[in-house]
Amino acid sequence: MLSNRLSIITPSVTVGISTKVKELKDSGKKIINLSIGEPDFNVPEKAKYSGIESLNNDETKYNLVPGITILREEICKKLLDENNCDYSLDEIVVSSGAKNAITNALLAVTDPGDEVLLPKPYWVSYSEMTKIVNAIPVPMNTDKSNDFKLTGDILKKYITNKTKLLILTNPSNPTGAVYTKEELLDIANICLENNIYILSDEIYEKICYTDKFVSMASLSKEIKDITITINGFAKSAAMTGIRLGYSASNKEIAKGICAIQGHLVSHPCLTSQYIGYAALRDCKKDLDNMVDIYKYRRDLIVSKLDSMTNIRYIYPEGAFYIFIDLSKIKDNFNFSESFSVEFCEEFLNKHNVAIVPGLAFGIDDYVRISYACDEKDFLEGLNRLNDFISEIMVSCPNSAL
Ligand SMILES: Cc1ncc(COP(=O)(O)O)c(C=O)c1O
Repeated sequence: MLSNRLSIITPSVTVGISTKVKELKDSGKKIINLSIGEPDFNVPEKAKYSGIESLNNDETKYNLVPGITILREEICKKLLDENNCDYSLDEIVVSSGAKNAITNALLAVTDPGDEVLLPKPYWVSYSEMTKIVNAIPVPMNTDKSNDFKLTGDILKKYITNKTKLLILTNPSNPTGAVYTKEELLDIANICLENNIYILSDEIYEKICYTDKFVSMASLSKEIKDITITINGFAKSAAMTGIRLGYSASNKEIAKGICAIQGHLVSHPCLTSQYIGYAALRDCKKDLDNMVDIYKYRRDLIVSKLDSMTNIRYIYPEGAFYIFIDLSKIKDNFNFSESFSVEFCEEFLNKHNVAIVPGLAFGIDDYVRISYACDEKDFLEGLNRLNDFISEIMVSCPNSAL
């Protein structure tokens, strides 16, 4: 008999799509893949070199559980200079990717049965990670007219005496929405009043096209104390496969995370840590160039979408995704269980373009497109989306066309 846990975890929709894309490609089909959440850039050269150098210096033995000191120092400096958050060395724990940092944090602050609040749409793994640690994910409805951003009023409706943690992604995956300081304060004050921890996932913080990004922990000393800031190198430094992320939290939580990490993985791969260290210290220009390119693509994709009928979208101010509202098409599309899943399946089968169903993020009227790819791919993908939507609207008696 295997663990009950396995029967409540849903396999990752995005991983399922990647597998299907691989199968189709292997069978000789040319697929445009707009489903990926992975930068199409390489790790900056200086960062790579730092990893190679560490290997040549035989930096390959067990090391400190929370991560090498020079990396944590560099992270503290970054958090202070760029985010106005003053963390000390013993408040930083480096982990094998943000995923690992989030799971460590969940293990450190929740008990079985505790409720974890997730504003919809939420990143696919939060709910499953919450279930893995035997806590209870509580999806919260948000308002489409407010770009699905959480507000203090919405938050209040979901708080019970079991609520332990709120997970907030800023900038958001899948919408790209970025919270203002006032919006964050509104949410954080409710959490303070109700003794709720905040896990602020800021992994897309660097990929932000406005100057208004504010770190949750920068708001006040009290808010910083209840906040676990999550960040990493996968998105900002194109280091998805290097597997490096970190948490910044108060000393008590950081100590708890360290105790857990010490038993589960000891510490993240040392070579990866040296790569991350140089990415922070020496590669600012490379990272800024990537963001300029994402911004150029965001502008392109938005103007293309503006020329299409029957769709709306959330204007992305960060990350490299666009969340597209297909509710106008829904009534004209034959589906049995999930509109977005079946829409994406048919789109892939008929037009050879992979995108992610909104259901993966808890909202079935939407699909997510990633523009972390060549511009000719996402422009062609959008042409085909336009064709597919036209086919659906024309073939249906309810057609609005
Ligand atoms: C919001 C969010 N948090 C965390 C992660 C995981 O990051 P990592 O690859 O560093 O584990 C992702 C990856 O897609 C993400 O979108």
